[in-house]
Amino acid sequence: MNIAYKRRTDDCRFMRVFEGECLTPAPVWMMRQAGRYLPEYRKVRKTAGNFLDLCYSPDLATEVTLQPIRRYDFDASILFADILLIPDGLGQNVRFGENIGPILEPIRSEEDFRKLTVENLHDHLAPVYQTVKQVRAGLPKKTALIGFCGAPWTVATYMISGKGSPDQKDARLAAFRRETWVQELIDLLVETSVQYLCKQVENGADLLQVFDTWGGNLGELEFERWCIEPMAAMVAGVKQTYPDVPIIGFPRNAGVRYKRFIEKTGVDGVSLDTSVCLAWARDNLDDGCVLQGNLDPLAVVAGGDRLEVEVKHVLDTMAERPFIFNLGHGLIPETPPENVARVVDIIRSA
Ligand code: CP3
Repeated sequence: MNIAYKRRTDDCRFMRVFEGECLTPAPVWMMRQAGRYLPEYRKVRKTAGNFLDLCYSPDLATEVTLQPIRRYDFDASILFADILLIPDGLGQNVRFGENIGPILEPIRSEEDFRKLTVENLHDHLAPVYQTVKQVRAGLPKKTALIGFCGAPWTVATYMISGKGSPDQKDARLAAFRRETWVQELIDLLVETSVQYLCKQVENGADLLQVFDTWGGNLGELEFERWCIEPMAAMVAGVKQTYPDVPIIGFPRNAGVRYKRFIEKTGVDGVSLDTSVCLAWARDNLDDGCVLQGNLDPLAVVAGGDRLEVEVKHVLDTMAERPFIFNLGHGLIPETPPENVARVVDIIRSA
């Protein structure tokens, strides 16, 4: 079942950016806006038990999705979930160790890969679709709801390694060796992620973001094959069902390759990481592509005068482009919540 999708440009200002409008003040949301820096999140997290239980409890996941909206009135809300719910739904048995991050049964061979199954995937993810529905019902109309998933490459790095790693060595090595199952794994992730994203739209997501946190760490040829090609396939796949739903890509650390990424994938927007030169992005990236970014999350931790200088630098540089204010990566747990309020204040009083 697919429900018709209409871009809500009448009652939601955020969505107008995707019609090419350049808005002042710029719409704002922040990656990881729901999370451990908020005392109200930590409280709910404690009642949920572990992190995955929180992701799979529609009432609690809805509550933590709405918390930052109540506190800061962000222009967009992002579904509370995680990029590793797909591997979990494919039967890979994901856990989150306290203060050690994700732990998965690593996939190191074709035999390991063959154990994955799509059989229960959408039953497994049903609570997430329910959360999307409940969040939409609980949000003000003017607030956009962002659905998301991880990009195939980034999700594969965790599936292959069984954990997070600074260099994604296991996955990059497997990809160089060109084991046939690596391409099959990527193809499986493209297919299931497209279905997952379409279900989020069906249940009320206004737009989508795809996180390729580790995409930019790939070398030139590998970036083409494991970041650009799967993303192009995902955009085409989602747009086959929902041609008008905006999709933002986040090929973190892609540098000058953001340009090719935009041209070849057909995304409607890109999230720029902190290392991207904003003037370069403004002058060189396709005018039809919405830019989002790229305040350093550590500037929000630091606060003070520097925070104001940094926020204004982003706003001034992007003043004449369809632009969404965001960070270059997610808020971190030590962020003082009042500094987040300050960023929103600076933007809205500009
Ligand atoms: O507010 C939001 O941004 C929405 C929710 C969201 C989470 N994870 C919640 C979360 C989103 C969009 C993600 C994406 C995600 N998850 C990415 C891509 C973006 C990025 O941050 O680079 C990645 C790589 C993951 C995988 C993941 N999830 C890791 C490596 C970790 C452990 C690190 C950490 O911060 O603890 C998580 C856990 C996680 N996902 C938390 C949250 C709020 C912290 C969990 C907790 O409460 O203990």
